[in-house]
Amino acid sequence: MKIMKDEYGHVNCTVMYVEENIPGTIEDTDEYTNLITNFNSQLTDHCNCDTNCVKNTCKCLSRSGGANYEFRDEDQSPHILLNFKKYTGSSISFPLMECNSLCKCSEYCGNRVVQKGPIKCLVVKPCTVSSKGMGLFTSKAIPKGTFICEYAGEVITPQQAAMRNQMNFEQGRMNYIFCLNEFSNSTLTQTIVDPSNFGNIGRYINHSCEPNCFIVPVRVESPLPKLAIFSNVDIPSNSEITFNYGSHIMNLSKSIKNRKKCLCEKKNCIGYMPNEAY
Ligand SMILES: C[S@@+](CC[C@H](N)C(=O)[O-])C[C@H]1O[C@@H](n2cnc3c(N)ncnc32)[C@H](O)[C@@H]1O
Ligand SMILES: [Zn+2]
Ligand SMILES: [Zn+2]
Ligand SMILES: [Zn+2]
Repeated sequence: MKIMKDEYGHVNCTVMYVEENIPGTIEDTDEYTNLITNFNSQLTDHCNCDTNCVKNTCKCLSRSGGANYEFRDEDQSPHILLNFKKYTGSSISFPLMECNSLCKCSEYCGNRVVQKGPIKCLVVKPCTVSSKGMGLFTSKAIPKGTFICEYAGEVITPQQAAMRNQMNFEQGRMNYIFCLNEFSNSTLTQTIVDPSNFGNIGRYINHSCEPNCFIVPVRVESPLPKLAIFSNVDIPSNSEITFNYGSHIMNLSKSIKNRKKCLCEKKNCIGYMPNEAY
């Protein structure tokens, strides 16, 4: 059952459009073997709900620690928005698990959002600050909690990321590699995505020190999380979509050596990109 609708593409023909993550270049290491095993694993947990999924009875929602999304019917336009209550006031963090192809609920169940693909009002265009390159903009106002798009590309190992980072740095190229760090029972899991050569519309999102979006790890069919971008404020039309590249970096270095100047133009801009990799 494929329900994703992604009608975007790239204007630059050196980049291949991929709607979802793909595995990166084959490497003869244990890290790569683990990556592929995870990539090809199907989550077997699922719910047996009729049509829709409601909090107390749905296994997917109870594994998620409650409702992942809430339904809002404002201005006669219904929206399914991220449930921010799950992210505030609790020290326990649950994974966001959407319903999957084994679940018995319908494709219209309110726990299926990221799997349906990006919103329709995204526009790629050059930024006013030309050295920032291209950026992702919205042609419509977007309410807080809306799923924008995935940050999708090649899923690579830390070793591949280190080599690609070094090459990008030496060649003065833009860097698209994003490393998501997740902690569970004091174990660190890293998911590294590189949309440089294979990527979706999310690869055009620039960094900001005062962003209007953030990344949420979302699991659908496999244990490998999708890097889902949600708005964290109401976004006016014609705004640039941004997130903070540093929000998932551990041990942020204080040194600004080798870090690019940040051109986000926000009042509280810290002046430099969060990490020397960018
Ligand atoms: C994921 S890409 C974003 C899209 C990119 N601007 C493009 O033209 O394809 C990341 C790169 O964009 C640039 N960039 C993103 N945010 C920036 C910022 N706040 N200030 C300066 N450069 C930025 C950096 O060169 C960075 O390596
Ligand atoms: Zn469901
Ligand atoms: Zn259910
Ligand atoms: Zn800044």
